Amino acid sequence: MRSEFLHFALPDITTTELDMVAEAMLSGWITSGPRVREFERLFSEAVGARHAIAVNSCTAALHLALETISIKPEDEVITSPYTFAATAEVIRYFGAKPVFVDIDPLTFNIDPAALSAALSDRTQAVIPVHIGGLPVELGQIISTRQTGGVPVIEDAAHAFPCRYAGRVIGAISDFTFFSFYATKTSTTGEGGMICTNNQEWAERCKMMSLHGISRDAWNRYAAEGSWYYEIVAPGFKYNMTDIAAAMGIAQLARADTMWTRRCEIAARYNSAFSSMPELQIPTDDPRHQHAWHLYMLRLHLGKLNIGRAEFVEELKRRNIGTSVHFIPLHIHPYYRETYGYSPNDFPVAYNEYLREISLPIYSKMTDDDVQDVIDAVTEVVRVNSRRRTYVPA
Ligand SMILES: Cc1ncc(COP(=O)(O)O)c(C=O)c1O
Repeated sequence: MRSEFLHFALPDITTTELDMVAEAMLSGWITSGPRVREFERLFSEAVGARHAIAVNSCTAALHLALETISIKPEDEVITSPYTFAATAEVIRYFGAKPVFVDIDPLTFNIDPAALSAALSDRTQAVIPVHIGGLPVELGQIISTRQTGGVPVIEDAAHAFPCRYAGRVIGAISDFTFFSFYATKTSTTGEGGMICTNNQEWAERCKMMSLHGISRDAWNRYAAEGSWYYEIVAPGFKYNMTDIAAAMGIAQLARADTMWTRRCEIAARYNSAFSSMPELQIPTDDPRHQHAWHLYMLRLHLGKLNIGRAEFVEELKRRNIGTSVHFIPLHIHPYYRETYGYSPNDFPVAYNEYLREISLPIYSKMTDDDVQDVIDAVTEVVRVNSRRRTYVPA
């Protein structure tokens, strides 16, 4: 058994990040400035979007996107219950209703076939989430949009770098937003990016990210800037700092290398677990590029003597950190009490949640770390399998 606890997620920070952050700090420009503009330029190039706006979280990015398309009270926005708090809470900021659509049991992503049935006269947007970094069926969702005629806003918090049918996620639908939270595949500590090809929307997001101030608010203290500004809307304080952007630029340059390492880890897990009947390895799809932000293993509970919570505990006893993604939104008190949901209103999301366990998958993991996870999972399965004679896979 390993002697030290293996964290579920750790950022991959090198001296490049440290040097670039130090340089930003010593430059005298520590809030939004030239590094933010550079990060936006590089990121928009990386995903092929015409516009990229850096903000201080992915939640802020989603808030700005919904503000830009003028979501109002009583509007409906379709999303999946199988996601993090942020995806639906921003819909509630506007007094609008998140309409949940159940997930596909194989992918954890919103079920495109069920989506069209949820469209109504009040639907104003659809927010599909690329769970764990496996792309949603965007082609189908965008064609469903044609029947609904509403913007598609991708929650790509987990999906960088990621491709749907060869196309980089970030410029395919109306809006795509990314997270650079500490555990994400590229990080700025806290941070987010809004991508769109629509110039008017990009300008609105940019303006609203900094108090609704009309023009070039960020450089009003620079030599070429001006003290004069106008407030044209009651905006927010969502701008990214140059310190964060410096880290983001360094991470962006290493994004493919970090992704390659996560692919190697996923491949090792898959080959260790695929022949174990007690486990179900995550779905992948050769048509797409999985970002491998999460490795979402599933337990066949009928083949084990323990439940998911005990499985998590058994791994913790062996010094392996894990997590669960996600506790579906409809079973949280707020959504239960506000909309009267019960767990089986979205039965696939609920049942898959009960047997999901996310294993560590991050580029800083050594080969020994990966082997420790494999050994620990294999042992917990062996000790708790209902098979009378356990034959190692
Ligand atoms: C699916 C999803 N969407 C949105 C967010 C929000 O990201 P941030 O923490 O950058 O606001 C998260 C964060 O974990 C997430 O998992």
